[in-house]
Amino acid sequence: MAMEMDRREFLKTAAIGTVGAAVMGLFGGTETALADEKDAAADAKAGDAENAEFKGKKKFAGIGHVREITDDIFYVGASERRTQLFENVYPIPRGVSYNSYILLDEKTVLFDTVDRSVTGQFFENVLAVLDGRSLDYLVVDHMEPDHSSAISEVLVRYPDAKVVLTQAAAAILNQFFDCDISDRAIIVTEGDTLKTGKHTLTFVLAPMVHWPEVMMSYDDVSGALFSADAFGSFGALNGNMFADEVPFETEWLSDARRYYTNIVGKYGKNVQDVLKKAAGVDIKILCPTHGPVWRKDLGWILDKYDKWSSYTPEETAVMIVYGSVYGGTESAANMTAALLSQRGIANVSVYDVSKTHVSELIAEAFRCSHIILASITYNMGIFTPMKNFLLDLEAHNLQGRTYALIENGSWSPAAAKGMQEILDRMEGTSYAAKPVSFLSSPNSGTEKDLSALADAVEASLKERDAGKEKDSDSEDKEDSANGSPAADSEKTVWRCTVCGFEYEGEELPEDYVCPICGVGPDKFEKL
Ligand code: FEO
Repeated sequence: MAMEMDRREFLKTAAIGTVGAAVMGLFGGTETALADEKDAAADAKAGDAENAEFKGKKKFAGIGHVREITDDIFYVGASERRTQLFENVYPIPRGVSYNSYILLDEKTVLFDTVDRSVTGQFFENVLAVLDGRSLDYLVVDHMEPDHSSAISEVLVRYPDAKVVLTQAAAAILNQFFDCDISDRAIIVTEGDTLKTGKHTLTFVLAPMVHWPEVMMSYDDVSGALFSADAFGSFGALNGNMFADEVPFETEWLSDARRYYTNIVGKYGKNVQDVLKKAAGVDIKILCPTHGPVWRKDLGWILDKYDKWSSYTPEETAVMIVYGSVYGGTESAANMTAALLSQRGIANVSVYDVSKTHVSELIAEAFRCSHIILASITYNMGIFTPMKNFLLDLEAHNLQGRTYALIENGSWSPAAAKGMQEILDRMEGTSYAAKPVSFLSSPNSGTEKDLSALADAVEASLKERDAGKEKDSDSEDKEDSANGSPAADSEKTVWRCTVCGFEYEGEELPEDYVCPICGVGPDKFEKL
């Protein structure tokens, strides 16, 4: 077929990529088309005929649910507002969108599909945009079912469409759908390219953002990066589908943060790896699989992602979370908030751990620099909702926060010790003050202790603000030192070939298990 890649060329390229001998494409620094000159000339000739036919058609007129991203990239996803819990876990009172896109070039390309809840709308959109044309390629950037549920039907409706995906995605596709795509799969890896006419797509691996098979696709003409879950958000699209068309910071940011921190938050290092690759590329549009499309102020959302994925607090701010049964601990939490306010600290938020969904608490913990936890003693340990929250924080890999602890118990307070045991397992944990302990309800002695705690938290907040600029200077110096050939040469690094996780040490232990994807040492390569 004209302009279609020679699969043998692709496999050859994949093999080269696997041994790391050459990282191709824009992300690797050198653009390399898979087809050789001869193939390209033949393709171009055949493609001209097809393109002429395409040019003869009436330009896509659009229907209500479809929006143009560029002249030849169209949004064909859909929003829904019926589902209560995303992934059967996360409340989505504002709904959610499942984004999919079509590129109309000499060849047609569909980027991902949608969740099964919106397949009807999705296929209406696809039919309208294709406007009688066939589908040549389905690019599978992410195999999670909220984006892959319509793949089977796409394959049936468009029997000539090739499926462009990573090896890992092909394996997962076979697990979810009992279908054989071996004769139509184009397996790609880092830096592989696909020419569709005037556009060339470059594929970028993004393992564990948010599953191991994830890749992103970059279009050289528009500068659009089809970024899978990255840069996504909870929230249905309400006609306005570009981030610059909505009050994103006031109405969307909290859901974008809650989406990232809960869905991808654990894999900060992998996100950092992708951000490093993205830094060298001229990205003009971010097309995520959920939420608004970014075409302006990309630096703003990239900065948020940099902070979230490096576990850097977004703000110097205090989050107070309390677990209370009869009101004593709640009262201590409120007293602490008031004491902080009396000291001129404005950025304080207070949450009842029993009533606030843990996904909101996780997101707030990523936002705030300081976290004060107040818990009753329950079964000689931590109040159950508080314990669940802290275990969830640990699971999401939160690092580098400053804590202060308050415990209550009517005969033998023990919650602080239990909370500290969990927090101490999290990297970079520090404490602004020693724990405050009281019996049943706070009294004047407790108020004195809480005043001392508030003094210590105030001092820690000021220290953070004062130290930020200083830290940033010293980090620059450290980066410079770490980036020196001498410093790099001292490290031995093994990289997981499945998810990209890097292990540093003298030797990779024989019984080592990848903390990200769970594979053994046989899947690691020494760098
Ligand atoms: Fe939106 Fe990881 O799926």
